[in-house]
Amino acid sequence: MDITRIGVVGAGQMGNGIAHVMALAGYDVLLNDISAEALDRAMAAVRKNMERQVSRGKIAQDTMEAALARITTTQTLTDLGKTDLVIEAATEREAVKQAIFDELLPHLEPHTILTSNTSSISITRLASRTDRPEKFMGFHFMNPVPVMQLVELIRGIATDKDTFNACLAVVEKLGKTAASAEDFPAFIVNRILMPMINEAVYTLYEGVGNVKSIDESLKLGANHPMGPLELADFIGLDTCLAIMNVLHDGLADTKYRPCPLLTKYVEAGWLGRKTGRGFYDYRGEVPVPTR
Ligand code: CAA
Repeated sequence: MDITRIGVVGAGQMGNGIAHVMALAGYDVLLNDISAEALDRAMAAVRKNMERQVSRGKIAQDTMEAALARITTTQTLTDLGKTDLVIEAATEREAVKQAIFDELLPHLEPHTILTSNTSSISITRLASRTDRPEKFMGFHFMNPVPVMQLVELIRGIATDKDTFNACLAVVEKLGKTAASAEDFPAFIVNRILMPMINEAVYTLYEGVGNVKSIDESLKLGANHPMGPLELADFIGLDTCLAIMNVLHDGLADTKYRPCPLLTKYVEAGWLGRKTGRGFYDYRGEVPVPTR
């Protein structure tokens, strides 16, 4: 099927990144959020990130202007009914996602593919509550979206071949690489990445190392671009904890138990970069370890 119009629900970090790469690839994008301020912030972020690409010679100025002109914003979710592919990138809470699908479904065209950028929630369960489980799947981008090469494509139990192939064609048009994952808790990337981050927090909790030594060890000793605690702050500690809970509940194995120190940071509201404090304190000129 021919996909030309893409709806993105949620104008946060992931939503604006998705709108950015889709518009650069030539798709018409309709970006939705309930908040006008969030939409303004998202468009400013897209412009800033595209300007960064222009200044590094990755894209031309007129390519940027054309891409920006392809993004339209709307506070009315049901406007997305006219698109060919919807990517839901709202808050990582099942009830929020469910409410979005419930409102949107009666307005969708029959051919529209519905997807979620969820990092861990069951695609099969989300799909089962829609009128189109065969046209529903997971479309999971990595952060920062314009930079990261991978997109995980997750098939629910009912997802049909045409839907998968249509989404695969979109990933290829973006110039990214798709990893096909079966629908089990946290899929591939987070099934492996989050237990590593959680283990880094245990390493801190047990006093084996401090924030600096743990991050330096993985950066210099394993060539990771960011240390695990720095990466946790970048992703958001609430998101890391939510994913560990999905793994723990969904796989019922104690090896996935979230570290109590991770829970403590989340309970403190120290969620990482987005709140100014996590394993590092970002409120000064340079990030300072909090342990
Ligand atoms: N938009 C556009 N370009 C961006 C960008 C953005 N938002 N952020 C960074 N860039 C570009 C920079 O312009 C720069 O471009 P050049 O190579 O052309 O110079 C390049 O990316 C590198 O950026 P910086 O020089 O600013 O910084 P860096 O070298 O420290 O790299 C990083 C930053 C790319 C974020 C790197 O640290 C990194 O790869 N970190 C790991 C990120 C990661 O693991 N992400 C996955 C998280 S897991 C996830 O997302 C799944 C989930 O469900 C939780």
